[in-house]
Amino acid sequence: MENLGKYRRTCLCGEFGGVAAGETVTAMGWVNRVRKLGQLVFVTLRDHTGLVQIALDENVDGELFAKAESLKSEYVVAVVGKVALRREKDINPDMATGKIEIIAEELAVLSASQLTPFQVGDENVSEALRMKHRYLDLRRDGLQQNLRLRHRITQSVRNFLSDEGFVEVETPILTNSSPEGARDYLVPSRVQPGKFYALPQSPQVLKQILMASAIDKYFQIAKCLRDEDLRADRQPEFTQIDIEQSFIDQEDVLTLTEGLISAAFKEAAGIDLPTPFPRMKYEDAMERFGSDKPDTRFGLELVDISKVVAGSDFAVFQGALDSGGSVRGINAKGCGHLSRKQIDGLIEYVKTYKAKGLAWIQLNGGEMKTTISKFFTEEKLVEIISTFGGEDGDLILICADQDNIVFDALGALRQEIARREGLIPENTYNPLWVVEWPLLIWDEDDKRYYAMHHPFTAPMDEDLNLLETDPKKARSKQHDLVMNGYELAGGSIRIHSEEVQQKMFEVLSYSQEEAYANFSHLMEAFKYGTPPHGGIAIGLDRLTMLMAGTDNIRNVIAFPKQQDGSCPMTGAPNAVFPAQLEELKLVIKE
Ligand code: AMO
Ligand code: AMP
Repeated sequence: MENLGKYRRTCLCGEFGGVAAGETVTAMGWVNRVRKLGQLVFVTLRDHTGLVQIALDENVDGELFAKAESLKSEYVVAVVGKVALRREKDINPDMATGKIEIIAEELAVLSASQLTPFQVGDENVSEALRMKHRYLDLRRDGLQQNLRLRHRITQSVRNFLSDEGFVEVETPILTNSSPEGARDYLVPSRVQPGKFYALPQSPQVLKQILMASAIDKYFQIAKCLRDEDLRADRQPEFTQIDIEQSFIDQEDVLTLTEGLISAAFKEAAGIDLPTPFPRMKYEDAMERFGSDKPDTRFGLELVDISKVVAGSDFAVFQGALDSGGSVRGINAKGCGHLSRKQIDGLIEYVKTYKAKGLAWIQLNGGEMKTTISKFFTEEKLVEIISTFGGEDGDLILICADQDNIVFDALGALRQEIARREGLIPENTYNPLWVVEWPLLIWDEDDKRYYAMHHPFTAPMDEDLNLLETDPKKARSKQHDLVMNGYELAGGSIRIHSEEVQQKMFEVLSYSQEEAYANFSHLMEAFKYGTPPHGGIAIGLDRLTMLMAGTDNIRNVIAFPKQQDGSCPMTGAPNAVFPAQLEELKLVIKE
């Protein structure tokens, strides 16, 4: 047996560029590539800092040369040798260490590798295969950088909040149901058969109880678990930077969060954000962008033409107006050149958002084409076009329906057109506070209100009485931080009076028992002196995605779940042994 423990690496692979020529060094890493050129063999070694080239000459040491030649990708090796400057023509400008190479004098295989199921760094392989062998995929540069970026973000966050006097407190993972509106993950209790823990959807209730416990400035980098359908920016298990503070108002939360986010962008990614972050009322966000998380990096804002088209013979428009809906559209500036087929593509696209169709007016080369010429006079069409500020070269797209469908469809359409037409500027970060949210949303199917955010969010002071008289008009002290079309953070000032909380539960049609079953501990705590408080939770995964410039949340999580909630590497979720079920007194129904 060879003594492999004797090797100590001099520095990381990417750092060899800074080592003086002539020095004897030890490099360690994974074999990235072996290239044979006649009597020379070049081996590139890789670690997370980059690559370094090892050179061997058959004429110098035939045995060592043969050993190097037999190396395969992903072998872990140690190389002892001398740093040498490359000849001018051999310099590789694409490699940070491209000016030097290491002339090997000794070579040891620390660990061999089987033939890998895919080449490290090859992204043209199915994600399922890469996730099954996540340890191989994680070796690639992009993921290495993302995990390290994530680390710098959490470091910055911890430093910032500690400096502001916040205390990191952990809350349990085995707990009871919390109110974020998704399905709970349940864990059966062995000691109390038939009973279950719920994994926390967020530490919401417990962080409020910490406020009642005189921890006046709390934070936690908290795991949250929600059994909901996955999307590109959504995982069942994700991480929040969770914050709660006593004796403050909304302005304090916004200021603190701006400082925190700005510091994280600066320290972790060297990006300066414009401060103060702009603010927009929920209502304006919907009217102008058709979304409660508007991407403000480009225009294409919505225009309401309900008044302009009211009273027409066009059944599609008039029908929508008569049933309380609206007619709105966007002027896709400079998109007048789109072909009929491309416009049909956009119509198909909005249908996935439940819109029934789009009417359009195309202004191209001094001509106007439109699907609605039959229904409007020339004059009316000119008025419609001017309402949109339409000019030659533009394409006006109009949707008539119930407001929620119009907003959804046009909100998504503006994003899609911007993406297709390349209207989104790169390296631009547009933070935006969305404030003055509705407190409640009415669910037509269930015939009841749900909390827009969660049941602990306080109504705006001036709207408190509306809880009795006209709940749907009440606005809340919710605040969401949006960036580039992502909901990055959400929070609110909380209800801290037991009386208002009871009223809120009533409006939400929670029976006394329901409220008490789930949140009795919070209601109980509120009876003994609770300071006014509020907070926010920032999605750490989304924050990292934005800084990393990726639109796939799995690229910023070491071991993510795939679409169906499974992990191909660990095999979770998996079947368990009958004895385990027996112990838990559980029976699986076929
Ligand atoms: P909320 O439910 O809005 O608020 O969540 C806060 C932030 O967490 C992120 N987030 C997610 N990220 C990835 N995958 C998911 N499935 C997912 N769900 C949410 C988002 C979101 O803005 N307790 C409240 C906060 C509070 O009131 O203080 C809460 O959890 O970035
Ligand atoms: P139709 O009368 O169904 O032939 O539709 C006439 C025009 O109205 C077509 O260009 C349709 O694409 C468009 N249209 C259909 N439904 C809607 C809608 N909900 N909003 C706006 N335009 C629509």
